Amino acid sequence: MSTLQNASLVVGAGSKIAQALIAELADSDSEHPVVAVSRTANPELSQRMGSNLRWLISDYSEQSINDIGRLLQQEAVHFKRVFICNGLLHGAELQPALQPEKRLEDLLEQNMLQSFTANTVVPMLWLKALKPLLANGDDVVVTVFSARVGSIADNHKGGWYSYRAAKAALNMYLKSAAIELNRVRPSVRILAFHPGTTDTPLSEPFQKSVPEGKLFTPRFVAEQLLSIVANLPAEPAMQFLDWDAKQVDW
Ligand SMILES: NC(=O)c1ccc[n+]([C@@H]2O[C@H](COP(=O)([O-])OP(=O)(O)OC[C@H]3O[C@@H](n4cnc5c(N)ncnc54)[C@H](OP(=O)(O)O)[C@@H]3O)[C@@H](O)[C@H]2O)c1
Repeated sequence: MSTLQNASLVVGAGSKIAQALIAELADSDSEHPVVAVSRTANPELSQRMGSNLRWLISDYSEQSINDIGRLLQQEAVHFKRVFICNGLLHGAELQPALQPEKRLEDLLEQNMLQSFTANTVVPMLWLKALKPLLANGDDVVVTVFSARVGSIADNHKGGWYSYRAAKAALNMYLKSAAIELNRVRPSVRILAFHPGTTDTPLSEPFQKSVPEGKLFTPRFVAEQLLSIVANLPAEPAMQFLDWDAKQVDW
């Protein structure tokens, strides 16, 4: 890798949006290396990006997250851009199978916990592990993928109980983290990001109801996000923004 300073980190790199982000980062900022973390390898992307991309495997257990944090600390890596992309809405392969709940009767303890773990616990454990790895100096942005449906003020339709609640909880954790980081590392800003409905496996079962022109490509979202991050003002310490840089109500 060219330099261990000012690198970018993409966690949840198996996400279709994350992969588009990695490709855009390589095109727009080839001088700084990208570290990617995922449950699975991606030989094609790794080969395409060569030595500028380092791909680490994690099962997202607390131990694995802490081990990777320690490894990167030992190597004195510092990140200027962090993107935590993990999210879970449905999963036929999970036990029991996970579907967004429509009614109270659909709530299952295991599904609620699975959703909270993937959407809230895992991103926050990464933020904890990454705290010592955030670059010193100005202009450090940690983007964590949230969702508009995590907005309590914007919840007019109900349903999707666990996903909504887990993203709302994520936003609250991020707000507290932003306040803490602002005290100890004022150069760090946190962006809770709503990508809009994007053509990925996560939205695939729900795309039929998306109005024409409102289903974004991962590449479009990645370009929008990188532009938002590049132009994010020094204050406030945290924002909840959508793909169009518009504020989302809490
Ligand atoms: N697509 C949309 O319309 C939409 C709308 C609003 C918000 N979002 C949010 O955008 C982010 C990216 O999603 P995407 O649309 O790109 O979906 P995707 O392609 O399905 O990617 C799913 C992501 O979640 C991670 N993940 C899956 N199961 C997990 C588990 N059990 N524990 C921890 N992590 C898990 C994956 O990590 P690996 O790298 O290990 O595979 C991957 O990063 C998510 O946070 C999602 O909630 C998406």
